[in-house]
Amino acid sequence: MDRLRDLAQAHNLIVIEDCAHAVEGEYHGQPLGTLGDFGCFSFYVTKNVTCGEGGMIIARNEEHIQRIKRLALHGLSQDAWQRFSDRGYKHYQVTECGYKYNMMDLQAAIGIHQLARIEDSWLRRQRLWDRYQKALSSLPLTRPAEPDPETRHALHLYTVLVDAERTGLTRDTVLEKLHDRNIGAGVHYLSLPEHPYYQERYGWEPDDWPQAKRIGRQTLSLPLSPKLHDSDQDDIIGALQEFCASA
Ligand SMILES: Cc1ncc(COP(=O)(O)O)c(C=O)c1O
Repeated sequence: MDRLRDLAQAHNLIVIEDCAHAVEGEYHGQPLGTLGDFGCFSFYVTKNVTCGEGGMIIARNEEHIQRIKRLALHGLSQDAWQRFSDRGYKHYQVTECGYKYNMMDLQAAIGIHQLARIEDSWLRRQRLWDRYQKALSSLPLTRPAEPDPETRHALHLYTVLVDAERTGLTRDTVLEKLHDRNIGAGVHYLSLPEHPYYQERYGWEPDDWPQAKRIGRQTLSLPLSPKLHDSDQDDIIGALQEFCASA
């Protein structure tokens, strides 16, 4: 981020941080999302704070914040709470061409109560993370790198790489075997050129980006919910040990 900020400053660029997974993340003691000009967070259903759908943008400049609010609601100068107040009806004006990107107040009401448990959930995931790191160290899987010093990893996804040449099993075989034992693992993510849209629209092929292709085909996200019990995690670790031993 230091280097990105220097680059942005030198060329008068705006920095927009994608913090979709990183509510808890920090860089040199500063929360992620506050390092650039804008920080974007996702509250989609798979995230650590969720409203079912929706998200949040933070910005450091009041003018930007007001513009984001207008753009999110059709470019209107006043939202419904301001139009229908106790002080009577107020006309709004369409000041620019906006979007229908407003999150419902009902969704916000669901999300706001989760703020109190962010830290406890993170601490629980940290314990699960450390247990995975230790238990899987003897298996032929590539584990996540340790976070850089002076950073706080949000610990949103615990991903390993399954290289068929090392494990004797493909990632998709491991996925299926886990699924057969009712263990819900996932993939984050296949590289973009694996998808028909990008192939058809742009002529991209997975081989054009061999590292992205390799990671997309090897990556496997293991369960990391704060609701996971140690005994559930033991089952997952035991299953992986068994698959690797019998491959
Ligand atoms: C890194 C990253 N950015 C953005 C998004 C999109 O978030 P949303 O679905 O809230 O638009 C995701 C979704 O998982 C993501 O992983």
